[in-house]
Amino acid sequence: MHPALTTPLLDLLGSKYPIVQTGMGWVAGPKLVSATCNAGAFGIIASATMTYDELVVAIAETKKRTTAPFGVNMRADADDIMDRLKLLVAEGIPVASFAQAPKKDLIEYLHDHGVKVMPSIGAKRHAEKVMEWGVDAILVQGGEGGGHTGSVPTSLLLPEVVDVVGGRVPVVAAGGYFDGRGLVAALAYGASGIAMGTRFLLTSDSAVPMEVKKQYLGTAVTGTVVTTKVDGAPHRVIRTKLVDQMDGASAITAVPKAIANAAKFRKYTGLSWIQMAKEGLDMKKRMDMPWAEVIMAGNTPILTKATLVDGELDAGILPTGQVVGVIDDLPSAAEVVNRIIAEAETTLDRLAGRNPGS
Ligand SMILES: Cc1cc2nc3c(=O)[nH]c(=O)nc-3n(C[C@H](O)[C@H](O)[C@H](O)COP(=O)(O)O)c2cc1C
Repeated sequence: MHPALTTPLLDLLGSKYPIVQTGMGWVAGPKLVSATCNAGAFGIIASATMTYDELVVAIAETKKRTTAPFGVNMRADADDIMDRLKLLVAEGIPVASFAQAPKKDLIEYLHDHGVKVMPSIGAKRHAEKVMEWGVDAILVQGGEGGGHTGSVPTSLLLPEVVDVVGGRVPVVAAGGYFDGRGLVAALAYGASGIAMGTRFLLTSDSAVPMEVKKQYLGTAVTGTVVTTKVDGAPHRVIRTKLVDQMDGASAITAVPKAIANAAKFRKYTGLSWIQMAKEGLDMKKRMDMPWAEVIMAGNTPILTKATLVDGELDAGILPTGQVVGVIDDLPSAAEVVNRIIAEAETTLDRLAGRNPGS
């Protein structure tokens, strides 16, 4: 392998290549994670959308499929976060990934038990904060990335964060990556590797139903939108009819529209109105949201599941990076990894003047 690809990230993660498959809710389960790890990259189980018991099963299943190390992604504010951290320790999981910055006491607990901590961040000030708290790596996601995302694009946020970190820990670049040129560009900015969500979602190893994958593949680079209307926080999703409807709703029409949507999609959620109201109230309290957003938000995780897991395209919540618009195939995870490494080596040779014209 080209020496430029042998970065400090490899020692930290125990992977062969500086490529990370991120913990995408409803998407990154045992099959995708183990396929990624067996190909030499680093896979992360998404547990924010799993119960504790489901996570126990997912870890066991992944271990059956691979002997390579893998990570687990969590929400630091989960009610049972300490149980999850204890599970990681007991199972010898080497890396804890967090959807948002974890508090100092969680980091300390993991460090005391030999687990490395790699939070995802989307703003420079978050990088400053987690560096103070003492993390082992930072995954920085630019605004073009999928799911919850910030507003600064990778091309600006990455160098900002690399400068804040100053080489103290590896920085992993995310948001918009799909090929070997991108990996080399990230390394040039000072990152130690790349992380990809959407590219791994669009592989034959991800469990997302084929008709949903087809909707992703048919989405143009301009076909995504960042909206706060689906769950209160800026979220990059495919611009479906449902999302457009919510985004276009005025203050007067928003609540009736949200109620109409909630009623329509209650059949997917299996939740009673009372359960939905309870979820919504919790969220209103936590996030200080307008009612229309609360009504939608109470259902969003379930609507996302209905679409990504059960293939209910009508439910219409499809988190994605803008990179979806430049992806038009469904290779295996191993093909993605091998292709990116081969392209990165060709790119590095070209930059060194060894194969001009390629
Ligand atoms: C379907 C989907 C679900 C996601 N779920 C999570 C999650 O549960 N936790 C998390 O930290 N990030 C989540 N993300 C963000 C990704 O982990 C990753 O940072 C992002 O996709 C990178 O941008 P890219 O899609 O351009 O590669 C999700 C992204 C997508 C597309």
